[in-house]
Amino acid sequence: MEYAQTLLTVLGPAADRPLDLPPEPSFLSDDHTPVEFSLAFVPDADPTLRVLLEPGYGAGSLAENGRVGLRAVREMARRWGFGTTQLDDLEDLFFPPDPEGPLALWCALELLPGGVPKAKVYLNPAARGQKRSAATVREALRRLGHRRAFAALPEGDRHLFFALDLGDWEEPRVKVYVVHQDLSAAEAAGLSRVAGGPAQTEIKQFFRTAAGHDADGIEYPDVPLDRRPGLSCHAFTESRTGLPSGFTLHIPVRDYARHDGEALDRAVAVLRRHGMDPAPLVRSLSAVTSRQLQDGVGLIAYLGLVHQQGRPPRMNAYISSEAYAVRPPLPEAVIGMS
Ligand code: TRP
Repeated sequence: MEYAQTLLTVLGPAADRPLDLPPEPSFLSDDHTPVEFSLAFVPDADPTLRVLLEPGYGAGSLAENGRVGLRAVREMARRWGFGTTQLDDLEDLFFPPDPEGPLALWCALELLPGGVPKAKVYLNPAARGQKRSAATVREALRRLGHRRAFAALPEGDRHLFFALDLGDWEEPRVKVYVVHQDLSAAEAAGLSRVAGGPAQTEIKQFFRTAAGHDADGIEYPDVPLDRRPGLSCHAFTESRTGLPSGFTLHIPVRDYARHDGEALDRAVAVLRRHGMDPAPLVRSLSAVTSRQLQDGVGLIAYLGLVHQQGRPPRMNAYISSEAYAVRPPLPEAVIGMS
């Protein structure tokens, strides 16, 4: 497994940290493991395995976390021969001397066969303060040539991530993640800014399934997500139209399910509906944990329905490492709508 070594290198000293020491704080996962897996499903092909990592985990300060992260990305770029100009051009925006916010830098690797992954970098729009996060996103988009992109984004409560594809991508994307507090299915259906984008009924159906609002054949009213918020992500791949070419709705399934058995059932329902084979998801869960799915909640952190212009819908499932802790399941009695 060539990639096992890759992951250890990117994680740096954190990879050698004994798991019986308490975790360092990290927003990457609920139990503060600095590693999260995900499977990107497509119809008619095997899913792609990806891993999200925090290279600066345990660096002591957010500023140092960011410096370690940047160094790790540049090392990867050298090793695999890709450029980092886009990232370099944004350094002052996302890496101020006194950064704030929930993260400094994360990177994700698509573990493709052949040993050379595709890389993605996640930056923090609130680095120069939450109040300036919209301005930071607007300026970052502008510097990358997407002058009209900011105006195309939907309203939301805050900008959570600014992400860049680095490396050998056919169509490298710039992605903006927006938090939507108290999102309802009907509102979610209106978030996409992709021209000729996804059908509203499809988004609503995904929302309801992922949030458990269509469980047991019951038609619940359109209640908003009142625990962890849903996220929209718009992907920009060209600057000619000023519009995004991709839209993803992320639902934090773990905060709306009693246990992971339920979360898995919802993921399977979404996959089947869109013609994707759920078997690899089931297998991957037993690869990361030996516990029963009913004995915890949070192994499946998010489900994301991905719409890329001109392609059939895809689904991403985000899978926690649970290296430090398993969140206990909810008792049967707290079922249902709050
Ligand atoms: N842990 C954070 C959250 O739950 C950030 C995060 C990790 C995330 N993986 C994600 C957000 C996948 C969206 C999709 O919000």
